Amino acid sequence: MKKIRWGILSTGNIANSFVMDLKHIPDAEVIAVGSRTQESADTFGQKYNIPNCYNSYEALANDPDVDVIYIATPHVFHAENSILCMKAKKAVLCEKAFSINAGEAKTMIQVARQNKVFLMEALITRHFPVIHQVLDWVKDGLIGEVRLVQANRCARGEFTPESRVMNLELGGGSLLDLGIYAVGFSSMVYSQVPRKISGFGFIGDYGTDEQGASILEYDNGALAVLTFALRTETINEAYIYGTDGYIKLPDLFAVPNKASLHINGQESIEFEKPILGNGLHYQVKEVHRCLRKGLLESPRMPLEESLQIMETMDAIRSSWDLSYPNDSSIK
Ligand SMILES: NC(=O)c1ccc[n+]([C@@H]2O[C@H](COP(=O)([O-])OP(=O)(O)OC[C@H]3O[C@@H](n4cnc5c(N)ncnc54)[C@H](OP(=O)(O)O)[C@@H]3O)[C@@H](O)[C@H]2O)c1
Repeated sequence: MKKIRWGILSTGNIANSFVMDLKHIPDAEVIAVGSRTQESADTFGQKYNIPNCYNSYEALANDPDVDVIYIATPHVFHAENSILCMKAKKAVLCEKAFSINAGEAKTMIQVARQNKVFLMEALITRHFPVIHQVLDWVKDGLIGEVRLVQANRCARGEFTPESRVMNLELGGGSLLDLGIYAVGFSSMVYSQVPRKISGFGFIGDYGTDEQGASILEYDNGALAVLTFALRTETINEAYIYGTDGYIKLPDLFAVPNKASLHINGQESIEFEKPILGNGLHYQVKEVHRCLRKGLLESPRMPLEESLQIMETMDAIRSSWDLSYPNDSSIK
């Protein structure tokens, strides 16, 4: 089978993890990397044996041999970088958060459709085998009607004002960095748009949200209770409660290797699947499946859902004293 040829846009932490995990996908080949500097592109290229190392994102986007580009820059650049690649007719896998706001997400989707290229948000959780099992349990009605989702995605780190996750100029803060996992989880379980959205956020010394919480209300009063933080550690579990039982995903639910099914009055059932590497390649399997079938978006991570998740996150932070530099959206 002909290999699918990847280009990597930027050379930071997750770009390194991604390339290392691609070794678990036999029909993937990394043939190019683009960085803001030649030195960084060359260092990355030498480390992973990548033949084409470019000193600009434009040069990477215009490499005629590249099939699909992985965008791994800070959130504020996702829209701009994805659009650059899609206009060069490249398929794109773009890191989470998909964009800074719903306005940018809409533009990205329009550009994907105009150029007839594949686009997917790299929200990894839903591509893990454990999640496929969990969604089957829900779909088969084993816990009855889902009434409540709970998810925590909180961590405590020591950050400087310059670090990406705390830097407002780069789209820092707990909602876009970690809250996205909880919001994305709820969106995946309910497969619908919340009808009411609340959002609490604490804005710290660096002007970004250090922690927050949201309650989402869905049809028939079903709820999601979500927390996210960069300066508070919690147990990062997720629960799906239904009328006939519940499903538990233990810490770290966003990168799941096990889940348990608890049907009222029955013995619980465990499902376990060890994770290879960092687990970033499960989403790549989905990208390859879609590209080989000629799909322009993934049924597992549809573009409308990425847009709805951004709309939900816009609503969560709407009452906070926080706006990102490009909140007015891109041209
Ligand atoms: N899926 C996951 O599990 C996961 C985990 C962590 C992060 N992420 C996401 O991946 C993205 C990148 O996160 P990261 O932790 O890898 O960030 P990082 O280590 O700071 O790397 C970001 C890279 O973006 C490029 N860049 C372009 N303009 C920049 C600017 N003005 N300032 C800083 N860097 C700039 C740089 O590469 P060059 O110098 O080569 O151009 C830099 O190395 C974020 O959106 C984050 O949410 C996802």
